[in-house]
Order: sequence, then structure tokens, then C-alpha cells
Amino acid sequence: MKQHDRITRYSAPERINHWLVAICFVLAALSGLGFFFPSFNWLMGVLGTPQLARILHPFVGVVMFAAFMIMFFRYWRHNLINRDDLEWAKNIHKIAQNQEVGDTGRYNFGQKCVFWAAIVSLLLLLVSGIVIWRPWFAGSFPIPVIRLGLLVHSVSAVVLIVVIMVHIYAALWVKGTITAMVEGWVSASWAKKHHPRWYRAIRAKQTPPPQQDKGP
Ligand code: HEM
Repeated sequence: MKQHDRITRYSAPERINHWLVAICFVLAALSGLGFFFPSFNWLMGVLGTPQLARILHPFVGVVMFAAFMIMFFRYWRHNLINRDDLEWAKNIHKIAQNQEVGDTGRYNFGQKCVFWAAIVSLLLLLVSGIVIWRPWFAGSFPIPVIRLGLLVHSVSAVVLIVVIMVHIYAALWVKGTITAMVEGWVSASWAKKHHPRWYRAIRAKQTPPPQQDKGP
């Protein structure tokens, strides 16, 4: 592929940021499932030993939250829902058949849903995680609040795990997407097909404005 056909989608710092979130997510999700289900107790081994997992899991969660906040402030504008997204959502059956619908910008409606679901569940995980964090904070809350914290923490963790499974499936299923987050680029044909409005904006920035004829 010619260099001209490649469009930069993520810079190196953006990719490092994303993969830090992803690594923390995998570690926190697996160790969390290890605490929750007796049959998954062996998963606590991802953080060394069960004792270490108990200590490290909340810190890994806080790092994931902080790193995601950087992504949040970088991308929230691109994830605002607009009219074209409703068109996309109405035609979801066509998307499932690998057709494109509407004049999609940098992100499509599915990606936007993942983005907002991720920030909501991460906020709930952070707040409920603080409430149940022994020995530091849990002692300051009454038992019923800790019980509610445990419920909110478990439900939002399951929601985030399902959302990220959809996110990973979409990243691998839509051919040509994964290079965006691994090497930082996508092909021009990928951009034109899946994100036509974003493609036109990029090309408009690259095309120099016509030269003014200043005369003799
Ligand atoms: C663990 C495996 C993961 C893989 C393989 C993966 C893959 C990708 C890929 C390929 C993109 C670029 C998509 C595009 O630009 O069109 C992307 C973007 C993104 N990813 Fe992931 N990701 C993973 C985990 C996560 C996690 C755990 C989170 C958050 C909790 C996350 C949040 C995001 C966000 C916010 C974007 C930008 C899209 C947007 O703002 O709507 N990813 N990911």
C-alpha cells in the first residue's frame, strides 16, 4: 500500500493510552471474576497470588479509570450523538450484513454507545469500588451502603465486560480496523467506506487551498 493511501488515526501516545486501559481492564476483570465465582478463583493468579490480587485489584482499577479519563477528554466531542447516528441505528440489520449506512463521522453509533457505556460503568465502578475498599475506606460506610456498593460494583463490572467483548469483536470483525490501534493508521478505502464524513474532513485538511493569483 502506498504511503498516500494510509491515513493516521491514532498517534503513539494515544495508542499507549488505549493499551494501558486495555491491559488494566483485562487484569481487573479477570481478578474480579476470580473473587466473585468460586470456580474462577484460579483467575486471581493473574495478579500473582490471591492475597496480592486482593491488594492490587483496586489500584489497577484506579489506573484504568485515570487512563480512560484522558481518552474521555480526547474523544468525547467525536462521540456526541447526531441525526446520522439514528439512521445508522435504524438500519442495524444492514450493518450486520457489512453494508454502510448514513454519513458517519470519526465514530459510528455502535462505537459511540461503547464509549458512553464505558464511561458510565467506569464511574460507577470507581464510586462503588471506593465504598467497598478495605481496609482504607469501607470502614467509613454503614453496612447497607457497603452492600449496595457491592451490588453496583458487580453489575457495572458485568456490563463493562459485555460492552468490551462487543468492542473487541467489532475491532476484529471490521477488516482493517485493528491497524488503527496497533500501528496508528487505516487505509483510505477503509476510511471512505466506514467513516465517509471523517475521510472528507481529513482530505480537506490535506488539500492546500487554491493559490490566489496576485497579478503582475
Ligand atoms: C482488550 C482489547 C481491546 C481491543 C482489541 C481494542 C481495540 C480497539 C480498536 C481497534 C480501536 C480503534 C477503532 C477505531 O478507531 O475505529 C479502539 C478504540 C477505542 N477503544 Fe478499544 N480495544 C480494547 C480494549 C478497550 C477497553 C478495555 C476500553 C475501555 C474501557 C477501550 C476503549 C476504546 C475507546 C474509547 C476507543 C475510541 C473509540 C471511541 O471513542 O468511540 N478499548 N479499540
